[in-house]
Amino acid sequence: MNPFFLTGIIPNAYFCDREKETETIITHIENQSNILLTSSRRMGKTQLIRHIFNNDRIRDKYHTFYTDIYATSSLRELVFFLGKEIYQRLVPGEKKALKLFLGTIRSLAAAFGMDPVTGEPRINLQIGNITAPELTLEEIFTYLEKAEKPCLFAIDEFQQISRYPEANVEALLRTHIQKMNNCCFIFSGSDRHILEQMFSSYAKPFYNSAQPINLGRIDRDKYIRFAVKQFDSAGVQISPETVGYCYDKFDGYTYYNHKVFHDIYAFVKNGASVDKETVEQVVDSILEENSHTFSEVMSGLSIAQKQMLVAVAKEKPARRPTSGAFVRRNALDSPSSAQKALAKLLDAQLITYTVADGEKEYSVADKFFECWLRETY
Ligand SMILES: Nc1ncnc2c1ncn2[C@@H]1O[C@H](COP(=O)(O)OP(=O)(O)OP(=O)(O)O)[C@@H](O)[C@H]1O
Ligand SMILES: [Mg+2]
Repeated sequence: MNPFFLTGIIPNAYFCDREKETETIITHIENQSNILLTSSRRMGKTQLIRHIFNNDRIRDKYHTFYTDIYATSSLRELVFFLGKEIYQRLVPGEKKALKLFLGTIRSLAAAFGMDPVTGEPRINLQIGNITAPELTLEEIFTYLEKAEKPCLFAIDEFQQISRYPEANVEALLRTHIQKMNNCCFIFSGSDRHILEQMFSSYAKPFYNSAQPINLGRIDRDKYIRFAVKQFDSAGVQISPETVGYCYDKFDGYTYYNHKVFHDIYAFVKNGASVDKETVEQVVDSILEENSHTFSEVMSGLSIAQKQMLVAVAKEKPARRPTSGAFVRRNALDSPSSAQKALAKLLDAQLITYTVADGEKEYSVADKFFECWLRETY
């Protein structure tokens, strides 16, 4: 079994660190605060949420629900996913809880129900069944409030709701959420720009309604100890320097280190040793596997966008990418076209930023793409 999990639920023994964040988030939940969990992409938000759901202080005490709304583009779909998640989580549990849910969601009675012959729960819910989304949403919140255990609902990629065509979604959700005593929410997502606007501008409905937590890199030393231990258990030699080398190469972005070690682990044999050369070889093969996808992304960009993306990849990290100095250094056209290109790339989530010493540092969101750009251009 590969101890570097890339998908599914990571068993506790293979989950690296995040002890402080876990403690902070659980304490907030126990104090009935909602959480706004943000990070750059692939840093580990979703896995942290799952890890928290599996914690002793949460697992049996709360009904835990998780839905990823990245693919949704309307209130109707949001309601669909919320309803479906609750149903699916309750089915394997106590009959009483499911009965309460089905009794509350009257507007979808035809889609959820019990088989009259076997008495087994059945579901035939389509997005088209949601004909009165506001009503169904209200019923869903009513259920969460009445449930016999406190509820914890994580809505991942929450920034998506700001793109719905309906004008009042934020206000509508906020009105319900504000009134709840039996349910806490974890709102999470990587579009920091949109989420910060939603939660920290005074004029917005969600203003100040959740404790913001920004998830950073896993501590370098902790990650090194974790990785060395996993290889050691398999009889494979790897030095802390080699793990650190890979960590630094991907700037500590969790998924990218983890993917490289996952692949190394899959190929090396007991008694082998892993060094920087091995890391480079595995990274090269990952870049090669993805090069078609990367080329395709490039082919969809304008010249100015390509130039900006390459410049950001090379400067790593890029500060003030629309300044005259940056434009000259990277032979871009002009600050105004740089501005436009940057906005597009941010919107497409190809570029991301973090804030260091009050200044934004831009980088390519996908760290493998970043390596590929540096090597290709
Ligand atoms: N604490 C951890 N221990 C071990 N592996 C981890 C940990 N956190 C994240 N990972 C690895 O990194 C990958 C990415 O994590 P995750 O999907 O949680 O990131 P995310 O921030 O939700 O990303 P996205 O923004 O793309 O949704 C996981 O699939 C897993 O391989
Ligand atoms: Mg995620």
